Amino acid sequence: MRKSVIGVTAVATGFTFALAACGSDNSSSSSGGATTAAGAATTAASATTAAGGAATTAAGGAATTAAGGAASGKVGVILPDSKSSIRWETADRKYLGDAFKAAGVQFDIQNAEGDKTKMATIADQMITSGAKVLLIVNLDSPSGAAIQKKAAAAGVKTIDYDRLTLGGSASVYVSFDNVKVGELQGDGLIKCLTDKAVANPKVVELNGSPTDNNATLFKQGYDSKLDPKYAAGWTKVDDQSVPDWDNQKGGQIFEQMLTKANGKIDGVLAANDGLGNAAIAVLKKNNLQLPVTGQDATKQGLQNILAGDQCMTVYKAVKKEADAAAAAAIALLKGQAPQTTGEVTDTQTQKKVAAILAGPVAIFKNNVKDVVADGYITAAELCTGFEQQCKDAGVS
Ligand code: BGC
Repeated sequence: MRKSVIGVTAVATGFTFALAACGSDNSSSSSGGATTAAGAATTAASATTAAGGAATTAAGGAATTAAGGAASGKVGVILPDSKSSIRWETADRKYLGDAFKAAGVQFDIQNAEGDKTKMATIADQMITSGAKVLLIVNLDSPSGAAIQKKAAAAGVKTIDYDRLTLGGSASVYVSFDNVKVGELQGDGLIKCLTDKAVANPKVVELNGSPTDNNATLFKQGYDSKLDPKYAAGWTKVDDQSVPDWDNQKGGQIFEQMLTKANGKIDGVLAANDGLGNAAIAVLKKNNLQLPVTGQDATKQGLQNILAGDQCMTVYKAVKKEADAAAAAAIALLKGQAPQTTGEVTDTQTQKKVAAILAGPVAIFKNNVKDVVADGYITAAELCTGFEQQCKDAGVS
């Protein structure tokens, strides 16, 4: 695992999501008066709604305000897969689609299903069919950078969505503060082991894909919390990355870790809910229940928390990320610079990349209800089969 330090200088809090604000009531705000890129998008949304067009970019012409020109051309979005985390299909696709629809911008969202060649082909097709901005979640940096290079040659702007493409050429990077995500995971595991009063616990780390820059950042975050503990008597029993975040491989790797450690493990730092659940399945087989971390606030992760099988997850409000990315894409369609809140350093080129980073939230049993209150999952979805646990945790 690379341990390079990324220079996150972006301020993760306090950035405004003009589109987020209008997303929930896009039929109203016809007031316009837009002076910002996102504000102009708001106007475009109402102009298009008024025109009755679902995805008519021409209607955006009516939205030509002081802020600049019309949003013309299509936005292409390429999601990475549907197995490493269910978020891509259940949350990102939905929220990005909602944001583009609300803005009256044409869009096309596809999923590369973990296949780099497929992602490149989808990108080519999107460019041929008129995409002017591409939003990609890379499957690794070299393949992402190649797509971005080709896009640039065709005059198409690109956005790094969620994952930074090292050596890439995206106009902007929209994500979460991923070091912070890892810090919350490290603090979460420490809290759960401390609550259980385990003396000098033995910990294993099940990291994300070695080719995902986010996994590097998550690890940087949790190791910054766990390393001092290891130095003070805790033991790191094992530490392995899971290729492509493959949940099945994650389970196999964890099973080997457990066997090698003769079952003597007290806590699992799993980098996301999928990997956490893979470890939990192995633990259950061995009649063990230990603090396990996660990420993404998936239905399964939240249910594992309610059941006491998982210690915590990290909730990333994907709606905020999607709304910010959509606003950035719309600005680029209009030939404007997206409003960013900071910048990160590409550790491969040392170049600064303009960024918008949202803040993650740690979720334990006592605040699972906050994820429901935020609308990320409904109580009905979460609580089916978990009625009593939901009641106990105040989820309704
Ligand atoms: C994302 C996580 C996700 C993981 C696997 C990361 O890049 O930030 O939310 O769980 O990829 O898809």
